[in-house]
Amino acid sequence: MRVLGVNALFHDPAAALVVNGAVVAAAEEERFSRRKHGHRPVPFAAWELPVEAMRWCLETGGLDVSEVDAVAYSFDPGLARPADQLGLHDPWDHLRLTYAQRAPEFIATALPGLDPAVVRFVPHHVAHAASSALAAPAGDWDVLVLDGRGEASSHLAGHYTDGRLEALAGQRLPHSLGLLYEDATEHLGFLRSSDEFKVMALASYGEPRFAEELRRSVHATEDGGFRTHRVDWSALAKARRPDEPWTQDHADLAASLQLQLEEVLLDLVRWLHGRTGGTRLALAGGVALNCVANTRLLAEGPYDDVWVQPAAGDAGTAMGAALHVSALEGVRTRPMPGADLGRGWTDEEVERALQVARVPYERADVADAVAQCLADDGVVAWFQGRAEYGPRALGRRSLLAHPGHQRNLERLNDVKGREQFRPVAPMVRLERAAEVFSRGPIPSPYMLFVHDVQPEWRDRIPAVVHVDGTARVQTVDVRTEPLLAAMLQGFEDRTGLPAVVNTSLNTAGQPIVDSPRDVLELFGSTPVDLLAIGSFVVRRSWWRR
Ligand SMILES: [Fe+2]
Repeated sequence: MRVLGVNALFHDPAAALVVNGAVVAAAEEERFSRRKHGHRPVPFAAWELPVEAMRWCLETGGLDVSEVDAVAYSFDPGLARPADQLGLHDPWDHLRLTYAQRAPEFIATALPGLDPAVVRFVPHHVAHAASSALAAPAGDWDVLVLDGRGEASSHLAGHYTDGRLEALAGQRLPHSLGLLYEDATEHLGFLRSSDEFKVMALASYGEPRFAEELRRSVHATEDGGFRTHRVDWSALAKARRPDEPWTQDHADLAASLQLQLEEVLLDLVRWLHGRTGGTRLALAGGVALNCVANTRLLAEGPYDDVWVQPAAGDAGTAMGAALHVSALEGVRTRPMPGADLGRGWTDEEVERALQVARVPYERADVADAVAQCLADDGVVAWFQGRAEYGPRALGRRSLLAHPGHQRNLERLNDVKGREQFRPVAPMVRLERAAEVFSRGPIPSPYMLFVHDVQPEWRDRIPAVVHVDGTARVQTVDVRTEPLLAAMLQGFEDRTGLPAVVNTSLNTAGQPIVDSPRDVLELFGSTPVDLLAIGSFVVRRSWWRR
């Protein structure tokens, strides 16, 4: 059974291929098109078919279009209602709906030879739910989905048994935790449905002194759902223009929103646990990218295990829809093998790109060369293996630095052209993680939780310690990540530190690099000291050997 999954409607267009229940390939269209999150959601261009990602998925699976058994589209227009009936102000929503209704024809046009009749609509939140519970390690899972919006709702809570979903609760629009967070993101001067994680980072600088006001508008209900009444943000803090500095009021507003989001999430998971008595919870939807909230759910919620799929946002619904359709057809689905489901390049392809760019390169023991450069306080662009599915760089397309120098946070934010209040994260050897970090789960391979940095380590790795003493950790297991583990070991041998700084390999407003050409462009235009690409290294000419 060969199922192509497609997310194309709100943001983060993406495609995924599931063959006989196993995820073979998955990627966001932005990695090909170089437009971050796809088109901006403006009238007449809010939707985007992931044409290049779809074609690449089929090519990777060695499939002709005629061999695809089903295309799973992560939105079911039959469940949608006109925006005004949903209580949303969205004058262009009917165009989006028309586009979704015609999706089979659009997809067949993009993939000549495809029979439009094989396109199947999957309810948006069912696709999210499957993207987590069916991709998680084997077994039965409770599932909680929270995002901005789907067809007519913003939430789904349920339970998976043997690959079948039983839905237990859902919250109809206009109530939406995701849209609420997006509203606040815009009010705080950031880009909505893109920069929500900046609000989470800003929250660490504030006190939740508006929490009581927010609680009146935003709270859980007794039936597993919640209410998000309109919030007068301006009454709490003045709207910030994107070019203005943020004030303490802005940070306090972010902190208050973050706290109230966490409180509602805790109520929702307690309700779900009360219905199922389950021990394992899978999370998906854009809200599940909030790693601060995820950590509180694990620490204070009733579940022993909380699992978050790395492409928890809408991109992940491409994989979820394909897994869902496979399971519906009686195929036993398999857990996702890791986040590295995107494009990869052979050494021959990499070497060809290096020759075309006419940069001096050498074949090297990459782990050792990188460890030495980092120990000498160089900044490294690390391009290895298949690209990550989802927004986090997890050691495939990463920018690395020494964590022992506080100024490296500023240095990396300068390389990337980012705001200075944003933290960078540590990548740590699994065996040493518990010694350095506490509170969050270990292992934590996908950077979707925050951890406390143990007090005795805060001065040793200051670049990765956020203002509140936390860090968003990625643990590296030598059994699944031998190259990364070797690099970390080499760095530890030289410095005594088991962690390095890891941030995504991109510059401001750009998607993470995907191809050798992308990373060579970045290397050519930023103060990166060493590029480690496949079996090769490229050094700045002045960098010591
Ligand atoms: Fe969604």
